[in-house]
Amino acid sequence: MQTQLFISGTWRDGADGATIAVIDPATGDRIAGVASATPADATAACQAAHEAQVEWAKTAPRERAEVLRRVFELMMEHQDELASLIVREQGKPMSDATGEVAYAAEFFRWNSEEAARIRGTLATAPSGNNRIIVRHPPVGVVVIITPWNFPAAMITRKLAPALAAGNGAVIKPPSETPLTALRIAELLTEAGVPGGLVNVTPTDDAQAWFDAAVEHPATRMLSFTGSTPVGQALLKRSADRVLKTVMELGGNAPFIVFGDAVIDAAVEGAMTAKMRHSAETCTAANRFFVHANVAEEFTTKLAEAMAAVKVGSGFDDDVECGPLIHGKQLDKVAALVDDAVAAGAEIVTGGERLDRPGSFYAPTVLRNVAPDSPITREEIFGPVAPVITFTDTDEMIGHANDTEMGLIGYVFTSDLARGLAVSERIQAGMIGLNKGSVSDPAAPFGGMKQSGLGREGSTDGIYEFCETQYIAADW
Ligand code: SIN
Repeated sequence: MQTQLFISGTWRDGADGATIAVIDPATGDRIAGVASATPADATAACQAAHEAQVEWAKTAPRERAEVLRRVFELMMEHQDELASLIVREQGKPMSDATGEVAYAAEFFRWNSEEAARIRGTLATAPSGNNRIIVRHPPVGVVVIITPWNFPAAMITRKLAPALAAGNGAVIKPPSETPLTALRIAELLTEAGVPGGLVNVTPTDDAQAWFDAAVEHPATRMLSFTGSTPVGQALLKRSADRVLKTVMELGGNAPFIVFGDAVIDAAVEGAMTAKMRHSAETCTAANRFFVHANVAEEFTTKLAEAMAAVKVGSGFDDDVECGPLIHGKQLDKVAALVDDAVAAGAEIVTGGERLDRPGSFYAPTVLRNVAPDSPITREEIFGPVAPVITFTDTDEMIGHANDTEMGLIGYVFTSDLARGLAVSERIQAGMIGLNKGSVSDPAAPFGGMKQSGLGREGSTDGIYEFCETQYIAADW
């Protein structure tokens, strides 16, 4: 297991020798001590990325595409091994971890195809006096900061398009789940990614690390996935150097079930939208708005499905929900449920911590939740489904949009016209219409409002990692 920093194509300890303890959330046991990068290490990583990027940007798009394609293949060849590492440090069930590796690898396959298709344009100005040539060179060095909920996919969703466009990268994986990132760095090398182009530097002093990375003159971009408050702080700091930014921030997804929905399909969609990856996704359904005519049936069936979820170590057979990432997250989820109950909600199932080592919370359904109850204001990031009953569609949409977040919404109805009309009224960057999961490397992932800036994936995603240069030409 690799536990050192990866800088300039070599493995080494941090400048001050400090380490970060990586903890198994299913047991609380220490798995590994990983080197912690200092500000000097961040500076060295940016310098290495800069030097390698200058050469990488000169390579033919096809050459870059083939290296990226090889990364996809290697990740799939090592799917089980990478998935085991994810379960070990993150806790999610093996089936989710295996799915995450395939999802993560797919960003390399997709962007290997996009690398050869970066477009420019040529136009004649309306005046006829000018030819307008527009091209898209790489930005330079991209700083990538990722969360612990997808130890592989949140890195590859940024790194693959960054490399495809001709950039270098300095990655700060989360201190909770650095091991997967370090293993991916080894596979990148095996695939032919040049030494120095990608640097992986976990740290337990994120602020000092980021200050150093921002100040390096070659750093031109920040791509971040994480909470809105952290994103706001990073945006402020990035402003000092006017960095390009792509921010994938928090969510507070409404999940809307109309009276004409096929309830079994809505429950299945709800289970996916709430519970995939142990309910620790920013796309997780956070507030369930259910029409009064079907609220009883939906809530009963959802509670049955939640009560049947097997909770445990991600390595155990048939486990569908692992532990929360750590005790702090467990305390937060427990407090949100307690506050909701104090505000009048009723527990239909769950509503308690599990009495075992690790940070486990029982899959929970709450009903009689008021639309303005505190639990509807927070991103839960845990296996709790608060059900809010509605009768008036306009009023419900008002509540659904009454949040600063706008990442995703879900709509379940048998009436496609109504589904599309309501989807258009939900203030979110992504909508699952009769779908409990929308994530796809070929689609634009990202949020409106305080859920983020920019998009990842799709044919647009690669351009986030490019500059736009206009050449006024005459010939
Ligand atoms: C996230 O939770 O940050 C990403 C979820 C996804 O890509 O499906």
